Amino acid sequence: MKHHRPTTLGEFLMENQEKFPYATGELSQLLSSIRLASKVVNREINKAGLADILGLAGSENIQGENQMKLDVFANDTFIRTLRSMGEVCGVASEELDDFISFEDNIHSSSKYVVLIDPLDGSSNIDVNVSVGTIFSIYRRISEPGSPVKLEDFLQPGNAQVAAGYVVYGSSTMIVFTTGHGVNGFTLDPSIGTYCLSHPNMKIPSKGNIYSINEGNYVHFPEGVKKYIKFCQTLDLKSNRPYTSRYIGSLVCDLHRNILKGGIYIYPTGTMSPNGKLRLLYECNPLALIIEQAGGRATNGEIRILDIKPSKLHQRVPYFAGSTEMVLEAESFLVER
Ligand code: AHG
Ligand code: MN
Ligand code: MN
Repeated sequence: MKHHRPTTLGEFLMENQEKFPYATGELSQLLSSIRLASKVVNREINKAGLADILGLAGSENIQGENQMKLDVFANDTFIRTLRSMGEVCGVASEELDDFISFEDNIHSSSKYVVLIDPLDGSSNIDVNVSVGTIFSIYRRISEPGSPVKLEDFLQPGNAQVAAGYVVYGSSTMIVFTTGHGVNGFTLDPSIGTYCLSHPNMKIPSKGNIYSINEGNYVHFPEGVKKYIKFCQTLDLKSNRPYTSRYIGSLVCDLHRNILKGGIYIYPTGTMSPNGKLRLLYECNPLALIIEQAGGRATNGEIRILDIKPSKLHQRVPYFAGSTEMVLEAESFLVER
């Protein structure tokens, strides 16, 4: 029997370089930086349960350094790694109020900006439940050579040149797109290498999972309440009742739904008038992945990727997943 060695992420980036937008090699290098940072973050997340015996966030470790909370650690690791290379002129992060501009000669002439949710689902860390990282990459629109501007970060999601996520789960995976489909790589911890495990990922057009925080039910719009009841109603032909799955780590909830087929909803509610999820760090990158995998992502009315952002930390309602299911949910939002 012929034995195949899996393609590594490094090999994949080299082999596909000319297919990437602009094909200068810079985007491959940028993705390599994200790959490296994700391994460092993965190592720390794997040790999270040892925090009590090795020292808690806020306390000092043996070397006298302050222990950092993992979301701060992840934020610093990604930003430091991106800054150490020359492809990126600025970063915006969910963890920071404002964007960071890398203002030396090398970086200010770079073409790319990165937007990142360094640790998604951070409330799950303490209880050993999967978390993730989400990233989004754009070409700057301001002139290279000048400091990066807010407008470089406030581009609609349809201008993304690449986007992806990392799942720190029962195994660690990186999934990304450069606009030519979606590929997933699983980290082989014994050699510290990501290997292509999920080539050309496609989301089923229909599934039977619905993912929504039903604790907020009484605060949801009427259409969403009706859709939830629809999901719960028996209809053998349509495979209903659907099954409810909600981890509370957006990346992991969506990753599961991409593989199995399903819908993820974070709607508006009386307590969160624009929903909770952030357009730039969460919704846009995951919308690009979902569309590239053949699915649909909207705010209930319009395509997430067509929304023109007005501020960095803008929140939007989110309906994402299997195309037929998202269309079905949307039909409940308009008068039926
Ligand atoms: P983060 O940890 O980056 O702040 O994101 C948390 C988000 C998202 O991961 C998750 O789907 C959602 O918050 C869960 O919100 P609820 O607890 O309101 O369901
Ligand atoms: Mn998040
Ligand atoms: Mn976060």
